[in-house]
Amino acid sequence: MLIERFDTDEVLASTLATRLIDAISLNPRLVLGLPTGRTPVALYRELRWHSQRGHLDWSHVRTFNLDEFVGLGAGDPGSYRSYMQAALFDHVRMTPEQIGMLDGRAPNLVAECARYERAIAQAGGIDLQILGIGANGHIGFNEPGDTLEAETHVAELRAETRRANAGWFGGDTTQVPSHALSMGIATILRGREIVLMATGAGKQDAVAGLVNGQLTPRLPASFLQLHPRVTAMLDRGAAQRLA
Ligand code: PGA
Repeated sequence: MLIERFDTDEVLASTLATRLIDAISLNPRLVLGLPTGRTPVALYRELRWHSQRGHLDWSHVRTFNLDEFVGLGAGDPGSYRSYMQAALFDHVRMTPEQIGMLDGRAPNLVAECARYERAIAQAGGIDLQILGIGANGHIGFNEPGDTLEAETHVAELRAETRRANAGWFGGDTTQVPSHALSMGIATILRGREIVLMATGAGKQDAVAGLVNGQLTPRLPASFLQLHPRVTAMLDRGAAQRLA
């Protein structure tokens, strides 16, 4: 795993944005896996800035988001669909066909998960998967536990994850859905290249486990150690337990 340290999350975000611009100009048909949450907010801001100035051609790019809350979709302010529209999709030239998102309001959630796996495969697989990491070591909504799910699945959120997401729901943890749809660990590991972003001291333990810990479903991100092309982009706070 390649470890990169940055003085601030702003420098981290602008560096990753520049790499994405290069990756898309080298391969205009890039298939991108995308995260939500607080960490990538600065990355999406940079991407909007560059897109508005014509530095990025999104017209052939495909995207697949990692996860979505069960019961939420377009029009729900707390949905990842709404987050992504505001953060990126409303600001770039992409058609709905280019954008892959799980539908948290699908009538048959198991069928929706299977549809998503097929859609990713039909797009040729994910070239570059961008990830955040939860303070509890989750990636996507693959939560710590006795076991992990390989493929896209319905996940039950842990209490700490619902608390961490309360900010998107007016600070009220009880409003955070109890379940989500999420790519599985194998879905994530099938990405040809993975970039994980982590910022802030609250992530230092998860990052230490990611880099130096044992492979364990108790820290789902540790499974990234199995992948040959992972870069962890860290700010000072997130890197402080690394030598
Ligand atoms: P955060 O979430 O960026 O809001 O900290 C990261 C994650 O849970 O993957």
